[in-house]
Amino acid sequence: MPSSTRLSVRWTAWLCLFISFLGLFSPAFAVKENDFKKCNQSGFCKRNRAYADTAVATGSSWQSPYNVVADSAHFKDGQFQATILKTINDQGETVRLPVTVSFLKNGAARVTVDEEKRQKKDIELRHNSKARKERYNEAEKWVIVGGTALDTEAKLTYEGKSQWTIKYGPSSNLEAVIEFSPFSLDFKRDGASQIKFNDRGLLNMEHWRPKVDKPAPEKKEGEEAKEGETPEEPKGEDESTWWDETFGGNTDSKPRGPESVALDISFVGYDHVYGIPSHTGPLSLKETRGGDGNYADPYRLYNLDVFEYILDSPMTLYGAIPFMQAHRKDSTVGVFWLNSAETWIDITKAKGHTNPLALGIGAKTNTQTHWISESGLLDVFVFLGPTPQDITKTYGELTGTTAMPQEFAIGYHQCRWNYISDDDVKDVDRKMDKFKIPYDVIWLDIEYTDGKKYFTWDPNMFKDPISMGKHLDERGRKLVTIIDPHIKNEEGYHVVSELKSKDLAVKNKDGEIFDGWCWPGSSHWLDAFNPTAISWWASLFKYDAFKGTMENTWIWNDMNEPSVFNGPETTMPKDNLHHGGWEHRDLHNLNGLTFHNATASAVVSRKKGEVRRPFVLTRSFFAGSQRLGAMWTGDNEASWGHLGGSLPMLLSQGISGFPFSGADVGGFFGDPDKDLQTRWYQAGAFYPFFRGHAHIDARRREPYLAGEPYTAIITAALRLRYSLLPAWYTAFYQAHRDGTPIIRPMFYTHPTEEGGFDVDDQLFVGGTGILVKPIVEQGKEETDIFIPDDEVYYDYFTYEVLPTHKGKRVTVSAPLDKIPVLMRGGHIFPRRDKPRRSSALMRWDDYTLVVALDRDGKSAEGELYADDGDSFEFEGGQYIHRKFVLAGGHTLTSVDAEGLEKGSVKEGDWMKEMRKVNVDRVIVVGAPKEWKDKKEVTVEGEDGTWTAEMDYNPAAKGRAAFAVVRKVGARIGGDFRIVF
Ligand SMILES: *[C@@H]1O[C@H](CO)[C@@H](O)[C@H](O)[C@H]1NC(C)=O
Ligand SMILES: *[C@@H]1O[C@H](CO)[C@@H](O)[C@H](O)[C@H]1NC(C)=O
Repeated sequence: MPSSTRLSVRWTAWLCLFISFLGLFSPAFAVKENDFKKCNQSGFCKRNRAYADTAVATGSSWQSPYNVVADSAHFKDGQFQATILKTINDQGETVRLPVTVSFLKNGAARVTVDEEKRQKKDIELRHNSKARKERYNEAEKWVIVGGTALDTEAKLTYEGKSQWTIKYGPSSNLEAVIEFSPFSLDFKRDGASQIKFNDRGLLNMEHWRPKVDKPAPEKKEGEEAKEGETPEEPKGEDESTWWDETFGGNTDSKPRGPESVALDISFVGYDHVYGIPSHTGPLSLKETRGGDGNYADPYRLYNLDVFEYILDSPMTLYGAIPFMQAHRKDSTVGVFWLNSAETWIDITKAKGHTNPLALGIGAKTNTQTHWISESGLLDVFVFLGPTPQDITKTYGELTGTTAMPQEFAIGYHQCRWNYISDDDVKDVDRKMDKFKIPYDVIWLDIEYTDGKKYFTWDPNMFKDPISMGKHLDERGRKLVTIIDPHIKNEEGYHVVSELKSKDLAVKNKDGEIFDGWCWPGSSHWLDAFNPTAISWWASLFKYDAFKGTMENTWIWNDMNEPSVFNGPETTMPKDNLHHGGWEHRDLHNLNGLTFHNATASAVVSRKKGEVRRPFVLTRSFFAGSQRLGAMWTGDNEASWGHLGGSLPMLLSQGISGFPFSGADVGGFFGDPDKDLQTRWYQAGAFYPFFRGHAHIDARRREPYLAGEPYTAIITAALRLRYSLLPAWYTAFYQAHRDGTPIIRPMFYTHPTEEGGFDVDDQLFVGGTGILVKPIVEQGKEETDIFIPDDEVYYDYFTYEVLPTHKGKRVTVSAPLDKIPVLMRGGHIFPRRDKPRRSSALMRWDDYTLVVALDRDGKSAEGELYADDGDSFEFEGGQYIHRKFVLAGGHTLTSVDAEGLEKGSVKEGDWMKEMRKVNVDRVIVVGAPKEWKDKKEVTVEGEDGTWTAEMDYNPAAKGRAAFAVVRKVGARIGGDFRIVF
């Protein structure tokens, strides 16, 4: 759903049209960009960039004014603590900044810097503000769920007068060199520098200071809110944005004055950095300080409702994960900047600036980053790898991993703003069946409500929601309804009366309930930071409170950045107040997560004794949101550019710990032509979250409306998704277990293959070896796929062996009815091949195992994970996790992937029922010639030995030989051996 009052957007559009008529600039560009701040319109960003410019201009005589007091330093039980003094003027006055460097058992390190005066609340707020005085120190409470045990084995190995060295890490090969004057840190692995803090001297913690009121100078034309300059301030600091700031007619009162935190972080010898979603643009992040092909603005993280967002831009979007990885051949390292305030990140690459002798042959690139947040603590985690898997695993220990989803949630979702009535929903459902198009969930956008009052139904259009719910349930299908955080301010609406009487809404700067404008008009916002608000919110979702919902109703959270139509940049004023007296400024980027959390908590407690996994989709998110549900990339557009742009965005989500992600298939705004719609379904079949959606002004576009051949092609893509659900579910389990992405970019799967480091238009599905490159250009009938290794690659559909070479591209043909999908040799993956209407109906279907033999024709490996797809019983061992290995070119075995003894888990209902579910077929692609005269194979199961028929198809015309074993009859959950 989009944001801005459509009126004002239309008005600006007309204005722009008019201006472009005058030949000045293009309308599309102007509308979006000018609604949102550039760094130089955001005071603290501008000040810190200026600070960086001064440092560069000063050159080698630049002195960072931050020094550790040597006497204050001590190291104990894996923690270094000291006081940093920041010199604030020529008279040598200082402020005290306590610093802690914690070394963690899992090999991560954490650096935290606070400001003593604010910590002790020894400051004065302006404007009689009731805000908290400390720097925000509760981001951790929402984000960090584990992995913080201290490495008590860490050792202080060098204790000089102004430099200490600490050795740490599981294999004691990591080192942190702490420099005292000025304060800086050098993180090393095996003796070599990887990550440096304050190497360029850009550390900046704007300390508290009283405002010295001077007669305000005349305001100059075009300058905003310039007042209270103190001419005695050294180094000519620009104070114009210290005390208040205005943007787009909204003034921020800034009761605590300037309080930004900034730090330069250099990745030594690394030329690629990834992560910090959500942005459009390439997976390998661009430089941001101008120049050819670079951005002129830093990457911004400030969750906003960005109306019709533009492509290839560092502009902020709906969600933020301040986690970055740096990568080079054979090494990956990373940082996680735990700060929920508005944040900007500058990236520059210094080529050949390092000493080649120190780094090996040839000059290397250092990637230099500059992190700038408006307020809060400086709190950074450092990961030293060395593999991408190490980084995502440790990050997952800290912030949590993807929750195991409801199994239906990885099927296809049919959405539109709006299905207008319960009859409309039933009609779409029947037509999907009529055309034999599988789907699991149908969605209702805001129009289902009675006048945008959540927890109500439009009494004319949705007369009988329970009958609609039951109708869907008969085919195992679900309903998702939207619930947003803005609560209509209308007399007699019970939700708003309770919100007010229980005092659970966000307040304005004066401590009164905040009133803003959103879909319903005048609204108040749930303060989901408040534990009492979370439990009250839960009460609204009980089946007998939210009447019309039932066990197959699930929830969609939109507009939770939060979107406020008449607020600054379409969100809340920064001086609004939340539970605990924190200013909105401090925790803005967590707002979406807390609302998502409140809803997920509500959905799991709808009925006493009902213990099921929640499904809640969110638009806004932060680090940690992966524990709560799925996200989508917001309001995209029905254009080829947006289709192509979705792939790097979702790959970036995956490596940043929040892989359950998708983009609206078909594009939200506008009408896709049929080729585009078809190609989008083909790509969407490989999104972890797969939902078709459309704007209220867009034409109807349910897949059956496309007409032939499109409907058939789209249906084939959907069936492909459904047949691979067991493989997808297994990938979700891996993500849940150790934070691995569900769709994986080349650098992640092949970290030593340099040619793949900037490839972001193709992906591997989990660990299946399935390599996909969706077609994202109009009229394109072939494509080049980058091949990252010298394994054999087969065409997924024809078993053709492709003429591949490591590090080169291979051309594959891809007419409209074909998705370029390859199978990498050496893998085994599970499928369920019987076409059904929904995933629920596939529950007890037999499996097919597809074996793609490696280039020697001898071996392959793979996994299957399955559970009841609904409850938490898997946590008590109620699941099947098999490992399949084909070895020696003749024997396929299935064993428990976790080495569990048979019978070690008492079987519950689901596991008992799964005893009847078998492997039905085994398809071996690249089958050895030696099998050619075989007609049967021996199967050794848990209950005996038998034979199964096999067809062997010899290689022909570039196609690999393949064998199909039918009616295998081995229990999927048990050990078996198939001897070919
Ligand atoms: C602000 O930055 C943008 C680049 O993001 C630049 O185009 C613009 O000229 C700058 N404005 C000022 C006043 O410096
Ligand atoms: C939501 O947050 C609360 C407070 O941090 C926590 O106790 C609860 O487990 C969270 N809910 C979910 C579903 O994670």
